[in-house]
Order: sequence, then structure tokens, then C-alpha cells
Amino acid sequence: MNEIKGSILFDRSKINGRVRELADEISRDYEGKDLVIVAILKGAFIFLADLTRNLSIPHVVDFARLASYGSGTESTGIVEIKKDIEVPVHGRDVLIIEDIVDTGITIAFFAERLRKRNPRSLRSCTLLDKKERRQTDFQPDYVGFNVEKGFIVGYGLDYDDQYRCLPDIYALDEAAYSGVKSDS
Ligand code: IMP
Ligand code: MG
Repeated sequence: MNEIKGSILFDRSKINGRVRELADEISRDYEGKDLVIVAILKGAFIFLADLTRNLSIPHVVDFARLASYGSGTESTGIVEIKKDIEVPVHGRDVLIIEDIVDTGITIAFFAERLRKRNPRSLRSCTLLDKKERRQTDFQPDYVGFNVEKGFIVGYGLDYDDQYRCLPDIYALDEAAYSGVKSDS
């Protein structure tokens, strides 16, 4: 892995504390419900693993893999479903788990798609909410941390598939990613 050029935004203990708070809130809100957690790969995998182990209520987990990014840092605006969920969601309480909402295009597209399958309820939880480049009116129901801007890596989030394994969350130095644009 390349050496990281950036600074820590949220360290592991802060992340851990916030994930536990979110899990408590979700456990209270979904008590007695038929909770289906749908995590969006790849970025949400570490957040999901920590969140699910802190939930105190029964739930099932499924995954979708969406892609709107090539190797750069700007959304292409086109969302591709690389892998759809497998569990039925009709009449169930669905919670989408995302690593970060940026333009909002990915999650808005996916939520719309799931809504057509008539879940009883549909909400979303994102670890990070980055509003600066928002292009939709999508508002996540549960937010771990708000971030102003920049490109964030670590704890599942990548830059060109790098840095997902870092236990802390970093903001990359602008020089480390600016000028790189993706068309794929
Ligand atoms: P959106 O469609 O622009 O909201 O982008 C959502 C997806 O882009 C997220 O699920 C991430 O995988 C990726 N993404 C957006 N911003 C960042 C970032 O700052 N760091 C890492 N990935 C990001
Ligand atoms: Mg990504």
C-alpha cells in the first residue's frame, strides 16, 4: 500500500464510539421489526461489520454492489448494479448502509430501486455525510459524522481501491488526488 498523504479526521476510538451510538439508536428504532440490512459494497464493509455486531436486535444482512466511480474522485453520475441483493424485501423493514453519501446519486438511485419492491419501510444509514457536492435532495436517516469536503479514505473507504484497511479515517491531502478525473 502506498504511504498515506493525509491527516486523521476521525480516529478509531471516535469511530468506535459513534458506531456504538448508531447501533443503539437503530436497535431501539427497529425493536420488534423485521430488519433487513443492505450494505453497499465495497466501501461499507467495515462499517457494516462493526455496526451489525453492536446491534441488540435480530436482523439479516445482504449486500449490493454498485459502482459510479472509476479510478478517480469524481462521480461519473451513472450508477451500475454489479451485484443485486438476494433476500426478498417486500413487506420488510429495510435499512441501507453506505460508507459515504457525496453527490447522493448512488444512494438515491438504489433507494428508488428498492422502493419499487414495496418494503414496509426504507431508511438509510451512512457513516459519513459529505454535503458539499450534493446533487440530489436525498437525506440519510442516520449519519455517523458530517464532513465538509475533501476526499476521505480508511475504515472501508478507498481511493483507487487503496487504503480501505486503515483503522482510522483520513482526509487525503488535496495534492494527492486533485487533477485526477475518471471517465469510467
Ligand atoms: P455519490 O453517488 O456521489 O453519493 O457517491 C457515493 C459513493 O462514492 C460512495 O459510496 C463511495 O464509495 C464513493 N465516494 C464518494 N466520496 C468519497 C470519498 O470522499 N472517499 C471515498 N469514496 C467516496
Ligand atoms: Mg468507493
